Amino acid sequence: MPSHLTIAIDGPVASGKTVVGRAVARRLGIRFLDTGTMYRAFAWATLRRGIDPKDGSALAKLAKTLDMRLEGGSDGQRLLVDGEDTASHLRERDVEQAVSLVAAVSVVRAAMVALQRKVALEGPLVMVGRDIGTVVLKDATLKVFLKASREVRATRRHEEQKTHGKEVNYDEVLAGLALRDKIDTERADSPLRPAEDAVEVDTDSLTVDQVVQRILELLKHR
Ligand code: DC
Repeated sequence: MPSHLTIAIDGPVASGKTVVGRAVARRLGIRFLDTGTMYRAFAWATLRRGIDPKDGSALAKLAKTLDMRLEGGSDGQRLLVDGEDTASHLRERDVEQAVSLVAAVSVVRAAMVALQRKVALEGPLVMVGRDIGTVVLKDATLKVFLKASREVRATRRHEEQKTHGKEVNYDEVLAGLALRDKIDTERADSPLRPAEDAVEVDTDSLTVDQVVQRILELLKHR
């Protein structure tokens, strides 16, 4: 386990983990890793090879052989699969639909966790995901669990998709979110839940800046 500064931020879909985590990392001048991108990239690799995301043995084989690497520094970090930058594929609709399924498979998780721990050993960082405080970085300097009501999260995600020019309706976003919450919290391996020593922050009525400020305050007392 790393002895340098590590901050673990977990929470459900659209709880603000990524925007908050990136801002905290920038304020502290340390690296940032959004582990959701790794599960998304894995899902993308699965689909590209024509593997059914429900085919456990094919997923296991892929998890053992896939060439997934992180390159670059804090914000310019690129996630490469088979040497190709995955960034433009991670929000595709079929990736969105497959990712929770592949993320529930233990061999896939083991491969992703091993890579995440390797990255954490390289220096101080903020890591965000679902199981960072409970599994990946059990000894993190600070563990934060971001909470927000499902309606607030659906509104945020809906606004975000509209700004990306996507035609979606709010009820669809809300239903998609409920389904992913269910899969993430009910899976047998590393279900989404706060670590016992995590500080829970309810973000419903807080701005991103306020959440960042709160995390920096918490860090002062570590
Ligand atoms: O945070 P996100 O929406 O990009 O995550 C995509 C999926 O990956 C989501 O279904 C949960 C899963 N995930 C996970 O199981 N563990 C993590 N540490 C990060 C993401």
